[in-house]
Amino acid sequence: MISIIGSGRVGASIAFLCVSNALDDVLLINRTKDKAIGESLDIANSIPPTSKFSIHGTDDYSTLSGSDIVVIAASTGLYFKDRTENMVSQIAMIKEIAEKIKQYCPSTIVLLVSNPLDVLTYFFQKESGFSRFKVIGIASSLDSSRFRYLISEKFSVPQSSIAGALVLGEHGNSMVPIFSNARIDGKSLSSMLNDDEKNVIRTEIRNYWKKLRKFKSRSQFGIAKNTYDVLETIIQKKEFSVPASVVLQGEYGANNVAMGVPMKINQNGVSEIKEIELDKSETELLMNSSQKIQNQIKSAQS
Ligand SMILES: NC(=O)c1ccc[n+]([C@@H]2O[C@H](COP(=O)([O-])OP(=O)(O)OC[C@H]3O[C@@H](n4cnc5c(N)ncnc54)[C@H](OP(=O)(O)O)[C@@H]3O)[C@@H](O)[C@H]2O)c1
Repeated sequence: MISIIGSGRVGASIAFLCVSNALDDVLLINRTKDKAIGESLDIANSIPPTSKFSIHGTDDYSTLSGSDIVVIAASTGLYFKDRTENMVSQIAMIKEIAEKIKQYCPSTIVLLVSNPLDVLTYFFQKESGFSRFKVIGIASSLDSSRFRYLISEKFSVPQSSIAGALVLGEHGNSMVPIFSNARIDGKSLSSMLNDDEKNVIRTEIRNYWKKLRKFKSRSQFGIAKNTYDVLETIIQKKEFSVPASVVLQGEYGANNVAMGVPMKINQNGVSEIKEIELDKSETELLMNSSQKIQNQIKSAQS
């Protein structure tokens, strides 16, 4: 069973993909019970006639019992300038949710989606005491989708011709697109862009959410699909290479901080953290990004 905590835009969109693709049974848990029930009643009509699975909505955390995976997409409020705006209330919320998950499904894998993503991934892992390989923050794959999209638009090429376009580090203003790893039809992206052009793309990726919000209240489908891909990997016992946030213990020179890094995921969670080669400036930017997240963690602890 997949349980999704928070049935707002993002949680409901993830649930819709799971249910309409007949991935597994889905439980929606929401602070306001009626919202979970309403979304479930709607999404239930997307169950394919051949599906063995169903969806239910509740505010009762004890129903988490038996969850194979829990997705956390709950939010205490909107942010307008920066994803860290509601950090204090989000950390309090994540600690409460960690207690419930520990109580009702202590062997589950947890996918975090709520912001500030890396800080919450860190606090959830510490609070729950779960293995760091079972607590995964989903966001760098969304940022990487944005990177791919921007490259595809700039060079008028299909995304299928782009490989290795990763965004690592914070899901926030210090995120780092890795130009040195990206290829278009096998040709190095770095060799096709000068430093000014790279800076423009870096800024566009970091500000993608702000541009989107000029036209729509906030994003939901991109993160839903990126989360679904990880859910499918785990439920269907596949293996998947994807950038995601995990608590690091020395990898990329970072310690005791969660941030987006390339990894392999399988049915047990993170099976490998991949340390890829970065150029000098990308290494520096990534170190700065991890330092920034660490500062946020420290400020929340003081
Ligand atoms: N990782 C990424 O790349 C990414 C991308 C997009 C969004 N996000 C993040 O995803 C989160 C959800 O976004 P959204 O647009 O779906 O927000 P939303 O529409 O405001 O939904 C949030 C939901 O969480 C519920 N909630 C609050 N506290 C809860 C608790 N303790 N237990 C259970 N449910 C609780 C709220 O319930 P009520 O009905 O009672 O208000 C609401 O339904 C946000 O933190 C957002 O920043 C992350």
